[in-house]
Amino acid sequence: MSQSVSDDDALWRQFAEARMKEGNLNDHLDLPSVFETIPQGKGSKALDLGCGLGQSSFRLAEQLGYDVLAVDASSEMLTHARRLYSGVNIQWIECSFDQLEFPENSFQLIVACLSFHFVERLDHLLKRCSSWLCGGGLLVFSVRHPIRTCNPTGELSKEGMFAWRASDYFQEGPREFNWLGAKCINHHRTIGTYAAMLSGAGMSIERLIEPSDSAGAFAFSEESRSVPFFLTIASRKPIAHL
Ligand SMILES: C[S@@+](CC[C@H](N)C(=O)[O-])C[C@H]1O[C@@H](n2cnc3c(N)ncnc32)[C@H](O)[C@@H]1O
Repeated sequence: MSQSVSDDDALWRQFAEARMKEGNLNDHLDLPSVFETIPQGKGSKALDLGCGLGQSSFRLAEQLGYDVLAVDASSEMLTHARRLYSGVNIQWIECSFDQLEFPENSFQLIVACLSFHFVERLDHLLKRCSSWLCGGGLLVFSVRHPIRTCNPTGELSKEGMFAWRASDYFQEGPREFNWLGAKCINHHRTIGTYAAMLSGAGMSIERLIEPSDSAGAFAFSEESRSVPFFLTIASRKPIAHL
C-alpha cells in the first residue's frame, strides 16, 4: 500500500495551513532537535528531502551557510516554499524520492524532516542516501515517533491528561488513517528497524533524540512531556580508508 504524494493535494493543503500557525509543533519541537545535530555548512552541499514549505531549507541556507537542493513531490508545498523564500538561494526540485538520481558522493549533508514515515521502501532510500553522501557526511532525519505510528489513532487524552494506546508495535507496515481531514498513510517501523536499516545502508548512528518540550507553554508542550511526538536520528557515513 503506497500513497501517491503528488496527488495528495487535499492532505498537503491542510498541512500547509497547520504548518504556518503560530506555535506549531514542527518549528518548536521537530526542527530544534534536527538542527542541534547539524554543524555550520561553510558552503558545502545539502539535500533536503521532503522540504515541504521550506523552513528547514531556509535555515540550512541562511543560518548555516549550506548550498541547498530542496526536494518535494508536492507542487502545492513547493509553490508556497518558492513564494515564502523567494529571495533565498535555494534550488527547489519537484520530484518523488524514488525518481531522484545523483552521482555518488554528491552531498555533505542530507536532511529529512518528517518525510520518511511516508516512504514504503525506506531501506532502499537509505541505501541511496548513503551513496549520495560523501565519506564523513551526515544524514539527519526525523519521523513521527513509532509509539504513535504503530496505532496512529491511539489518542486517549482528556482534560489535560495525555496518553496513547500503543498496539501492534511489532507489526510493521502501512497504517491508513484520517489526518487533518484527509486520507493519510504512515509506514510504521520499530526503533530497532530504523537502526537496522541505517546499519544496512552502511551508516553509523551518532545521535538518537526523542524531543520533549520540558519548559515550554505551547499547546503541545504538556503532551510532548507524556508521549513523544517525534524521533530524530543523526547518522554518519564512514570515511573510506584505502
Ligand atoms: C509532514 S510534511 C513535512 C514537511 C517539512 N519537512 C516540514 O518539516 O515542515 C512531509 C513532506 O514530505 C513530502 N514527501 C513525502 N513523501 C515523499 C516522497 N516519496 N517524495 C517526495 N516528497 C515526499 C510531502 O510532499 C510533504 O511535503
